[in-house]
Amino acid sequence: MKILAMSDVEDNRLEYAINFEHEKLDSINYIFSCGDLPRKYLEYITDSLKRSLYFVSGNHYVLQFYGNKFNSPKILQKLYYGKGMRLRLGGIDMHGRVEILDDHIIVGFGGSMRYNPGNFQFEEFEMEKIVRRAQTEIRWQRIKDLIFFRKKKEIIVMSHAPVEGVHDKEDRCHKGFKCFRDFIDAVKPLLWLHGHVHFEGQMKTQQTLIEQTLIVNVYSSKIIEINKCEILVKNI
Ligand SMILES: [Fe+2]
Repeated sequence: MKILAMSDVEDNRLEYAINFEHEKLDSINYIFSCGDLPRKYLEYITDSLKRSLYFVSGNHYVLQFYGNKFNSPKILQKLYYGKGMRLRLGGIDMHGRVEILDDHIIVGFGGSMRYNPGNFQFEEFEMEKIVRRAQTEIRWQRIKDLIFFRKKKEIIVMSHAPVEGVHDKEDRCHKGFKCFRDFIDAVKPLLWLHGHVHFEGQMKTQQTLIEQTLIVNVYSSKIIEINKCEILVKNI
């Protein structure tokens, strides 16, 4: 499986590849957005590559996905403690959702740690509820695979915020969630893609292995090739 993963900023290298080096992108199967990208840009990339989009919303550009409905208490509750809609604006909103994609289970967690009254920010306990529910769904999936003698599916997570202690920062906005770390211990994903943390210098670490989980900050875009348990991460 080959994924184009994007987050946070529009990448000139990606636009250049779309216009002049299309062969670099021909073998991509899916597009994953880890948040904070404008809707127009997502549409431009998905229309150009003609591939399915799986996304989570970041803490910015939230209203473009959820609009005025965000103010309705029912929807608000659904967004905060529930899942995103399967089809939204031509993509699949992965927030709080567990999906089967080829031989993989994909899971998404949008938003960031709460740092002001803005939309789509979560306290640790709020995110923990969403994470626990996804964990339960994955356990059921694993049981079903066992019952029907199906091959065990590896897990890929896409989040906007980072995992606590990995690529995160001290300030509240950019601090990672502890429940993400607990999720890693519990279900041992193969790959965790996140955004939200901007790297000023290319020397900073953007990939970290925690036990068997490779955590990648996709800022601003990466091509990720997964072949069984081997993962190759490249810049465009
Ligand atoms: Fe962000």
